[in-house]
Amino acid sequence: MPPINSPKRIVTACLLMATGAAIFYSCQTDVKGKEKAQPVVVTPSLLQVDTAAIPNDKFGEAVRYGMELMYNTAYYIGPAGVNGKYLGNKMNCNNCHQQGGTKPFSFNLMLSHEHYPQYRAREGHVLTLAERVNNCVTRPHNGKPLPLDSKEMVAFLSYFRWINSFVPKEKPSKGAKNLEVTFPDVAASPERGEPLFMQHCARCHGKEGEGKMRADNITYTYPPLWGNSAYQPGSSMHRIIKQAQWLKANMPYDKATWDKPFLSDAEAMDIAAFVNDDAIHHRPDVKSFDYPHLEEKALDYDRGPFADTFSIAQHKYGPYEPMISYWKNKGLKAAY
Ligand code: HEC
Ligand code: HEC
Repeated sequence: MPPINSPKRIVTACLLMATGAAIFYSCQTDVKGKEKAQPVVVTPSLLQVDTAAIPNDKFGEAVRYGMELMYNTAYYIGPAGVNGKYLGNKMNCNNCHQQGGTKPFSFNLMLSHEHYPQYRAREGHVLTLAERVNNCVTRPHNGKPLPLDSKEMVAFLSYFRWINSFVPKEKPSKGAKNLEVTFPDVAASPERGEPLFMQHCARCHGKEGEGKMRADNITYTYPPLWGNSAYQPGSSMHRIIKQAQWLKANMPYDKATWDKPFLSDAEAMDIAAFVNDDAIHHRPDVKSFDYPHLEEKALDYDRGPFADTFSIAQHKYGPYEPMISYWKNKGLKAAY
């Protein structure tokens, strides 16, 4: 407790993520106005949920359907969906948001419920979580948006609220953000990425990135990485840094874990460069008018115009450090 005569205390929580533990500095101003940092070590808890705890009521019903939709998206709302035809491909949300969006470092969705409505640079305005869900329905799934009051949208949102209830309130949550990658000094290279892809990825996703359809033809055993049935270029998965961060924690599927990645950072970047090379790999395209405010454009977004003088190729493949410094010198933080 502060001494009775102390001036009003200013408490700032500074969060620092480390590999094993996160440290909160509560920066307090004492009586003489001097700052004294008092580090308190807090062990971050790994995000996880208990599906047995879904309530047996109407809300629980929506949560269950939302969870079903995450895993079996194509079956319910795919091109031949039994409950509606919305998606343009037969992929499932779970292909990227693994374990129903609860797997740490796999574009984890456990904090989404509390993070929206949120200003989004890509659209240049505030989006609700429902609108953000539809971004994934339209872009990675190449589909048409779910009506906001549909049973499916309500189910997704109920599920996100429910998984959010497992986020520890006192501790930092580990795995909500992506794993970081160290940027190499050189540009990521599709030429270096190709043999690495053939060695580490083609055995499941195919030499042509076509994936492998399940025998029932409803969805994939191994989802496609490019071609007409894959994610659109306007998807975040198409950005080299984003994809490399995800690959590092999650692929090859049977070898990588977030705490023991298989690919080196440079390999993950080169493979992402090969997978997302539009000169050799076709994917469904739509004209999108993203990032209305140029200075907010993500660094690795590969469509001009840009607010800086770097080329499209450098935006896409790097090297990124010179661009980060450029923005830093202007007093701005590059987004990626
Ligand atoms: C091809 C991969 C892919 C598929 C398939 C996919 N998403 Fe996403 N999703 C992403 C990426 C990438 C992001 C952005 C993550 C980031 O910025 O770190 C994202 C972000 C989101 C977010 C916002 C998370 C937040 O807290 O800001 C939601 C919600 C979401 N996806 C829901 C879905 C749903 C629901 C489906 C299925 C209908 C789906 N996604 C399918 C790749 C995918
Ligand atoms: C052992 C088989 C296997 C290997 C090897 C493998 N993957 Fe995957 N990959 C999967 C599976 C299965 C999924 C879907 C995960 C799920 O639904 O839980 C997936 C999902 C993906 C996705 C997201 C969905 C999509 O289709 O866009 C990408 C991107 C991806 N893998 C890239 C790669 C890359 C690059 C490599 C090589 C470094 C690789 N994978 C190696 C099995 C594999």
